[in-house]
Amino acid sequence: MNYRHLYHAGNFADVAKHAALVECLAALKRKDKAFFALDTHAGGAVYDLRSAEARKSGEAERGVLRLLERGSSEPALANYFAAIGARAGARLARYPGSAALIAAALRPQDRAILVEAVPAEARAAERAVRSRGRVRVEIADGYAALKAQLPPLERRGLVLIDPPYEAVDEWRTLRHAFLEAYRRWPTGLYLIWYPIRDVGQRRAALTRLESLRIPKILSAELAIYTESAAAGLVGSGLAIVNPPFGLDARLGEIYAAIHRHLAAAGAGYAQVARLTDERMAQ
Ligand SMILES: C[S@@+](CC[C@H](N)C(=O)[O-])C[C@H]1O[C@@H](n2cnc3c(N)ncnc32)[C@H](O)[C@@H]1O
Repeated sequence: MNYRHLYHAGNFADVAKHAALVECLAALKRKDKAFFALDTHAGGAVYDLRSAEARKSGEAERGVLRLLERGSSEPALANYFAAIGARAGARLARYPGSAALIAAALRPQDRAILVEAVPAEARAAERAVRSRGRVRVEIADGYAALKAQLPPLERRGLVLIDPPYEAVDEWRTLRHAFLEAYRRWPTGLYLIWYPIRDVGQRRAALTRLESLRIPKILSAELAIYTESAAAGLVGSGLAIVNPPFGLDARLGEIYAAIHRHLAAAGAGYAQVARLTDERMAQ
């Protein structure tokens, strides 16, 4: 496995993904009842934006750091900025990834399992998150964890599936594991991340998601480059299964704000729309 998230931490795709994750965690906390969170591809939890790797790629510079410079007073982004620990006028030195955001959101009654296949990353996550007995980090395959951990005892919560898409058959593996997880726990809130490198890849991702034939899928996409200008990602998307009430409108505002501040002139789009209805036609 070559993938190291430190090169990408805090890029526009992380911003979009984590802003949505923060809103979903907040929605779960509207009720006192305990929730469970499973992060199947957790990464190292906290990333040093001053590291050689982060500086070399410059992705955080064009992502979260630029957003903080230009959009720090955006009301739509206030929850996200608070969650990542951004302070007005101060340069963000450490970027919290999904594992750290989930761990920080837990209340005494909540619980999370963070799964990471690369031992060094998993150990970094273990060191970085304050567990207080509520978080378990596992060095394991995230797809196997879907089967092992679901449904959770709490019967409410979320699952983030955020693979690196390095393997050519990633989608096949993800599809199989997700459908099994959904069969076991159809009421869970699932967030599935997907990359968008060009129009063809986007179309393929949406077709694949529709082919799951599952109701209540919201797709939240943000693209900030034109295909010709982008060396890597043009954009990225999140398929959100069973989105909490009010998320569609809220994410629409958040993604529009991120796009306004980060997109190259005239490039990209922000689109938050239902991919499948409340019920699937028979
Ligand atoms: C995109 S990064 C995760 C970023 C993190 N979710 C975040 O938002 O901050 C993907 C991670 O998945 C890990 N990984 C790759 N294959 C895996 C697998 N089968 N099971 C668990 N983790 C895996 C990689 O080592 C990498 O740290």
